[in-house]
Amino acid sequence: MPDLKGLILSGGKGTRLRPITHTSAKQLVPVANKPVLFYGIEAMAAAGIREVGIVIAPETGGEIRAAAGDGERFGVSITYIEQDAPLGLAHAVLTAEPFLGDSPFVMYLGDNLLRDGITDLVEAFRAESPEALILLTPVPDPHNYGVAELDGDNRVARLVEKPPEPRTNLALVGVYMFSAKIFDAARAIEPSGRGELEITDAIQHLVNARMRVDPHVVQGWWKDTGQVEDMLEANRLILDDLIGKTEGELVDARIEGRVSVEAGARLERATVRGPAIVGAGSVVRDAYVGPYTAIGEGVRIERCEIEHSIVLADSTVEGLQGRIEASLIGRNVRIGRSPALPHAYRLVVGDNAEIAIL
Ligand code: TTP
Repeated sequence: MPDLKGLILSGGKGTRLRPITHTSAKQLVPVANKPVLFYGIEAMAAAGIREVGIVIAPETGGEIRAAAGDGERFGVSITYIEQDAPLGLAHAVLTAEPFLGDSPFVMYLGDNLLRDGITDLVEAFRAESPEALILLTPVPDPHNYGVAELDGDNRVARLVEKPPEPRTNLALVGVYMFSAKIFDAARAIEPSGRGELEITDAIQHLVNARMRVDPHVVQGWWKDTGQVEDMLEANRLILDDLIGKTEGELVDARIEGRVSVEAGARLERATVRGPAIVGAGSVVRDAYVGPYTAIGEGVRIERCEIEHSIVLADSTVEGLQGRIEASLIGRNVRIGRSPALPHAYRLVVGDNAEIAIL
């Protein structure tokens, strides 16, 4: 069997994460100060995959190339594959066919996060060599997902998109393994009602042709970070495993629990309650940073309180009386003081925005 390759889908429209995605790729939004995409690349490297293709969109491909580079620092070699338009996951697979050739491959959605990586999955695929192996997880609300039905031999019998009456609670996770048979399946299907070539339809095509499609139930948590709440939840889950360290400077500051204060960061008359990260070169002054907060690089948090939030690089939040919570704040944003305040702020602010609340 030719060696396994990796395929990360990092194109798409990202409409559910607007306005952040007006100016930037969603796969580069940091979770615990690391772009979501990098977790996927690291998972590939950890599973022993050396050749990784990344599907990019014309609009955001440049910044993804700039961020991930040639892959050397992850221990992989990265090839970029431009997809002209986001015509679906199966379309992305077809676009990558010249890169993938006849190698089996693992496909990973670039905005997904899996706590335990993909090593087990890759091992199961190598051991069993089915035509496809799909990752599943039990969810409380299967009607919101692509759902798998299994047959008596524990093979995938049917995939149903958002069934009103789901027969199982096993939702499809954004990681799949395929043999080169998937290309013919992707060529055989028609675009769905939303005009996309759906990967679920291509997999169903394999099932209908009596090819072996195995399920693999994921043990640790999994998150699709396509929406703000999920991004914050992923941030919370990753920070739960954070190891605290202090490389920055503390002046009359108090640290409680696991906090990572990166090099060149400065905490002045501040309390930071972990798990939380304060990125390199950031300043937290006369302020409180609460649990599950990731402050990016070059940020200034002054005379305010913030928790359970993500703040991207080079932004400023100052002089607010209520506490900011459950917020995703883009790059180079300024949030300033104003007189009459609500008790909490919930903000989704795009890059370069400027906000003053009354
Ligand atoms: P989705 O989150 O399903 O789609 P999207 O990025 O267009 O987002 P939204 O629904 O908010 O508009 O895509 C999952 C991943 O696959 C994501 O990393 C983007 C990527 N993708 C491609 O690379 N090409 C495509 O044609 C599509 C649809 C998605």
